[in-house]
Amino acid sequence: MTDELDGVRDHYRATGLTERLRAALKAFGPDDARLQPQQLAGLDQFHTRGLAATAELAELAGVDAAKSVLDVGSGVGGPARFLAATYGCRVTGVDLSEPFVEAARYLTERTGQSALASFEVASALALPFDGGRFDVALLQHVAMNIAERARLYREIRRVLKSGGRFATFDIVSLGGEPLYPVPWARTSATSFLLSAAATREAVEAAGFAVRAWRDDTEAAKSWIAGLNASGPPPSPNLGVVMGPQFAELAANLGRNLMQGRLGVLTAVFEAA
Ligand SMILES: C[S@@+](CC[C@H](N)C(=O)[O-])C[C@H]1O[C@@H](n2cnc3c(N)ncnc32)[C@H](O)[C@@H]1O
Repeated sequence: MTDELDGVRDHYRATGLTERLRAALKAFGPDDARLQPQQLAGLDQFHTRGLAATAELAELAGVDAAKSVLDVGSGVGGPARFLAATYGCRVTGVDLSEPFVEAARYLTERTGQSALASFEVASALALPFDGGRFDVALLQHVAMNIAERARLYREIRRVLKSGGRFATFDIVSLGGEPLYPVPWARTSATSFLLSAAATREAVEAAGFAVRAWRDDTEAAKSWIAGLNASGPPPSPNLGVVMGPQFAELAANLGRNLMQGRLGVLTAVFEAA
C-alpha cells in the first residue's frame, strides 16, 4: 500500500505550487486583493466538467447550511470553497498531497473563507476523524487512484453519521486499457479503475444503500467536444497546478472517453 500511495503522492507532488499560484493569480489583481471563489474555477476544479459537476453533485447529495461536509481527496480545495460559498456549510478537506493542501489553504485565505473551509494532509484510507462526525462525504475523481476500495469505502462509512450521504463522481473502466498518461496517473502503476457495477458492489458492501445513480459518460464526452472546439483554456488554468504536461494528460482523458475505454459515474449513497 505504501508504494502505491508514494506513487500517487509523487504524481501530485507539484513542487512550489503555492508560489506558482501566487504568481498566476496576479492576473486577477494584487496579492492582498480578496478573490471570489468562482474566479478560481479554471484551476481549482480538478475533474471532468469542472464547477458544473461539483454543483450538481452537491445538490444530489442534499448539502445545506446545517450539514458538516467532508471532501475526501480535496485537491487544491475548489469544491470545498464552492460548497462553503454556495451553502454556508462547514467543509473539511483531506488530501494525500502536502503541496495541494498548502495551496488549498492559501487559496482559501485569498477568498476569505478560512472560517468555513479547512484542509488537512491525510490518506483517505486512514481518515483522522472520530466515527459519525460528518453528514455528507464527497469523493470526486479520487477513487481511480486508490487500489484498496473496500478500505476506502469503509473509512468513508465510518466517519459518516447513520443516514449520512456519500456522493461520488469518478472515472470508471468500460473494459479497455486506458491510454496513458492521464490526469491522475502517468502509468498504470497509480491507476486503479473499477467498472461502475464493481464500484457499486464495493460501496454497498461497506454499509451503504444507493440513492442516486447516473451514467455521466455522454455529458463528459460533450464537455470534451466543447473543449476541443474552443481551443486552449484561458489562463490561469489547471496547467498551473499540474505543469505544462497537463494539456497532454487532459487530451488523453478525452481520447479515452471518446474511444469508449473509460466512462464517468455519479452516484449518491446513504449510510445504513
Ligand atoms: C484529480 S484530483 C481531484 C481533486 C478534487 N477532488 C477535485 O475534484 O478538485 C485527485 C486528488 O486525490 C488525491 N488523492 C489520491 N489518492 C488519495 C488518498 N489515498 N488519500 C487522499 N487523497 C488522495 C490527490 O492527491 C489529488 O489531490
